[in-house]
Amino acid sequence: MVKLRIHGPNRLSGEVSVHGAKNSALPLMAASLLCRGECVLHNCPHLSDVDVSARILRHLGCTVHWQGGSLVIDPRAVSQCDIPDGLMREMRSSIVFLGAILARTGRAVLSFPGGCELGPRPIDLHLRALRKMGARIAEDYGCLSCSVQGLLRGAAIGLSFPSVGATENILLAAATAEGTTVITNAAREPEICDLAAFLNRCGAHVSGAGGSTIVVEGVKKLSGCEHRVIPDRIAAATFMSAAAATGGCIRLNHVLPAHLEPVLPAFEELGCSMEWDDTSLRITAPGRLGRIKSVRTMPYPGFPTDAQPPLMAAACLGSGPSIFVETIFESRYKHVGELLRLGANIKVEGRVAVVEGVPRLSGAPVEAADLRGGAALVVAGLAARGLTEVTGLRHIDRGYENLERSLAQLGADICREYE
Ligand code: UD1
Repeated sequence: MVKLRIHGPNRLSGEVSVHGAKNSALPLMAASLLCRGECVLHNCPHLSDVDVSARILRHLGCTVHWQGGSLVIDPRAVSQCDIPDGLMREMRSSIVFLGAILARTGRAVLSFPGGCELGPRPIDLHLRALRKMGARIAEDYGCLSCSVQGLLRGAAIGLSFPSVGATENILLAAATAEGTTVITNAAREPEICDLAAFLNRCGAHVSGAGGSTIVVEGVKKLSGCEHRVIPDRIAAATFMSAAAATGGCIRLNHVLPAHLEPVLPAFEELGCSMEWDDTSLRITAPGRLGRIKSVRTMPYPGFPTDAQPPLMAAACLGSGPSIFVETIFESRYKHVGELLRLGANIKVEGRVAVVEGVPRLSGAPVEAADLRGGAALVVAGLAARGLTEVTGLRHIDRGYENLERSLAQLGADICREYE
């Protein structure tokens, strides 16, 4: 068994570089399928989800290799159109490959992604949009069989919810479709802008990304390109939570503070002060944290659901009740039971969690049940008195590149132990 052993509490201080965004890297890897030349993704994070995506690309016929921190993808020999069930199960978000595989090969065969640790992950918006673009999709025996005669066709697509994954799949399908696609109520996340920037660099005509209406004029073909993945705003928010929880003062390098704007008010409410320039941010926590009156997870530019668990871990040490309302995913409080083992005082009622601050947490063995929930347990462990052992690291490794090394660099007493 692998575990993280954390001896706390330790006030974090110093500097750390934030890696590239997981949620950008995966759709960018899918986008490379559309290209007729080599793609180089600089600042690509080395994560297990990226490894799974690389295995999917190789299965489809791409060559993929690392060159330092850059991922080099050659999609010229793509010959397959399916994703094996095992790889689909390893990473539910592999659904983002659907639009790209279909656009590239005219067919796509995937197993249905089903639910995940966060609850049901429906893909009805993805499928409705692709059907509108001319795809024929059969859903049989847990398998999605998609095909299109000739090219996908541009269409007017209104999303009933600004789904990140659906917006990405539509962009990927529309880039080389015949005619113009207009997406209304599109997701506005920075990762959508990053995908649009990559596609445009390859020769696509995407405009309006970052706003609610995105227009894609289909082009005949895309070339390869070199592209730098944006910094991971969720990893940044996790380090900020760790600094807050431990009363620390740290500087985050290689971040885009503009992308962190949705999380700054919550840290201010906790009493943290922040300063930033174009690419770095410094956060200084008070001796005792305050409380967050209310934080509601929302699509961007609202507070990100992925930052809710680590922020909650910090709020556990606040000086009054903090209220969290989770509106995006049904089962996003799995970390709460484990935080209680560390001495937190939290009550969950449906989508609302009330965190009564406690003056201290104490170390205990805890198990991560999902990626960001696992990060929350590490944040709490850094602030807890004594030994915290975190298991379930396969979840954490999906989204953080060598988390323990970065935290140790900030003065945490943390190591990975293989039993
Ligand atoms: C992406 C991110 C994930 C993040 C989430 C919200 C990746 C790989 N994953 O996930 O880390 O937590 O955005 O910012 O980038 N929905 C439907 N029908 C659909 C699609 C979505 O009802 O067809 C609902 C979902 O159930 C959920 C909400 O929309 O309640 C948000 O989902 P979505 O924005 O699609 O998130 P993901 O793309 O799955």
